[in-house]
Order: sequence, then C-alpha cells, then structure tokens
Amino acid sequence: MTRVLSGIQPTGEIHLGNYIGAIRHWADEQHEHDSFIFIADLHALTMDIDPSVLRAKTLEVASLLLAAGLDPNVCTLFVQSQVPQHPQLGWLLECVAAFGELRRMTQFKDKTAKGGEGAARVGLFTYPVLQAADILLYDTDRVPVGSDQRQHLELCRDIAIRFNTRYGSTFVVPQAAIAKVGAKIMDLQDPVAKMSKSRSSPQGKVLVLEPPEVMAKKIKRAITDAETEVRYDAKAKPGVSNLLELLAVSTGRSPEDLAGDYTQYGPLKADAAAAVVEFLRPVHERFRELQSDQGYVVDVLAKGADKAAALAEQTLRRAKQAVGLLPSRP
Ligand code: AMP
Ligand code: TRP
Repeated sequence: MTRVLSGIQPTGEIHLGNYIGAIRHWADEQHEHDSFIFIADLHALTMDIDPSVLRAKTLEVASLLLAAGLDPNVCTLFVQSQVPQHPQLGWLLECVAAFGELRRMTQFKDKTAKGGEGAARVGLFTYPVLQAADILLYDTDRVPVGSDQRQHLELCRDIAIRFNTRYGSTFVVPQAAIAKVGAKIMDLQDPVAKMSKSRSSPQGKVLVLEPPEVMAKKIKRAITDAETEVRYDAKAKPGVSNLLELLAVSTGRSPEDLAGDYTQYGPLKADAAAAVVEFLRPVHERFRELQSDQGYVVDVLAKGADKAAALAEQTLRRAKQAVGLLPSRP
C-alpha cells in the first residue's frame, strides 16, 4: 500500500490555504493510503515562539486535524517531538546534505530577509534536512503539500538518492503530491502573494476557525482587478482566479467551468463566501465538540507516537548501520 506522510507547523492560525492546499487532501487520502500525519513542533522552534503558546497550539492543531476528518483508527496522527527518531535521523542526513544546497532554499532566504542571516537560528537553516528525515523515516511514497513545499521535497529526494548511492539502498525516494487546483491559495488583499500565517494581514487570510460571518466578509472584500470579466487566468487575473479556486474546491467543480457562470465579480464573491462557509461548517462543529475532550486528543497523540516510533526505529537502525555506526542495544 502506498505510504503517505505530511506535516504542519503548530504556529500562527491555520488558514484556508493550509486547509485547501494540504489538510483536506490528508483527510481524503487516509482511506486509500497508509497515512502518517504529524504536527511539526520541532520546526516551530526555528522561529520565536512562546513556550505556552507552542504547547497550546500543538493541541489546537491536533484538534483541528481531527475535526477536519482525520480518523485515528484509520491514519496515524502524532507530534514530531514525541518520536525521537526524527532528530536522530536528521543528524545523519545533515552529514549528507551540502551547505550550498541549503543556502538556496527560498524559505530560508525569505525568513531571513528582514533580520539578516547572521541572527538567524541555525535550526532555521537546517530545517529542510529535518523535514527530509521526517519523510524518509517512514518509507514514504507520497507527500501531499502546497506548492510552497516543492523545493523542500526536491531537496529530500536529492538527499535520499545521495545517501542510497553512497551507503547502499536505504531509503524510499518520495514524490511530492501537489494538486492542480488549490495548491497555492492567495492573500485576499494581495493576490500575487500566497496566503500566509505570518505574512498576510488579518483581512488577507481566512482562518479556518473564525466565525462564518467574519470569513464571509473577508471573501466579499477580496481585491480583484479593474476589469469586469470573470475568467480563470492566475497570471493576468490573480484575485478573480483565487476566488474561482476557492469556489471550485468548495463545490467540487473546476474553476474554468465555474467562470462561465458569472458575468460580474459581486455574485462570484458572494457565492465563494457562502461555499467556503458551508465547506468549513462541519469542521467547526467537530472542533467545538473536541474542545471539551482534550484528554481524548492527548491520548490519540500518545498512541500515534508509539505507532510512528515503532516504524521509524526500523528505518533509523537501517540508516545507522549503513553509515557504519555500531548497533544500539535492542
Ligand atoms: P505550514 O503552515 O507552513 O506548516 O504549512 C502547512 C501546509 O499548508 C503545507 O503543506 C503548505 O504547503 C500548505 N500551505 C501553506 N500555505 C498555503 C497556501 N497559501 N495555499 C496552499 N497551501 C498552503
Ligand atoms: N515544512 C512544512 C511546512 O512548513 C511542514 C513539514 C515539516 C512537512 N516536515 C514535513 C511537510 C514533512 C511535509 C513532510 O509547511
């Protein structure tokens, strides 16, 4: 069976881009594939985050993933730091990855653009290698992510291939799974930039857990363009195309097809707002229920970590042996 793995950082507020680009695919794919989904709390430490916020966000994101339909009887849901094999394999891979290739990562460049490289945490620089370890530990075939992760996935493949060439076949080389529609949801107020936890203004991003009226208002106030024609063309008409993608994903139709239904922006915005609210309604309801049962969420994560660690340990042993480390005691 195909093995799927993906992760999300417990930072900021989960927005529509995260939901559409990543989370909904995880919920859909769990029934077809053997899925491992985790909360990347070690990655969250690469930026400034208050310890109590990190703790609270980790549980909130876990509840949100369950509310989005991840079923712990079907997939494995866990927290990265509760599976110690991740940073252990991370070190072995740091000794395979090259400084120059990490230097090229656009996310590192973006995140250090303001404060400068000198003050950046070393963990922010090596983060894509830990991400490669996350993936390779589980013999992962498919990694469903938004398009902003494409470069990290390429790096992961390069590291896996290099390791296998140098030390003998050890890792499965994974593929990124990036959907055609919805892999890059744009900022509602600045539709040439992606909707982002850290960069988007409050009006530019729709939060998955905010009240439906607030979501609807933001979508209705989305920036479009000075024309009036409704056409799906992400380059020439990024704002309108973004609205068409939101509507497409929420209704299961194609954006090109939907464009034919509209001659004005107003009705398109109103329909996109209503469709997104409906799309997220069940998630809100389940999230509210889970809020009163945090013990259940903690328990799901503990069981998930045990299951993940059992598999991760086998791969880690294989990798340690391949590079010449003495085996640890059974
Ligand atoms: P992060 O919030 O960086 O942990 O991202 C979690 C997942 O959401 C990753 O798979 C990202 O690629 C995806 N993602 C983040 N922002 C967007 C966006 N604006 N559109 C589509 N997918 C996104
Ligand atoms: N880097 C990803 C992000 O910022 C999160 C992540 C960490 C991830 N490890 C992963 C995604 C492994 C896929 C597979 O969105």
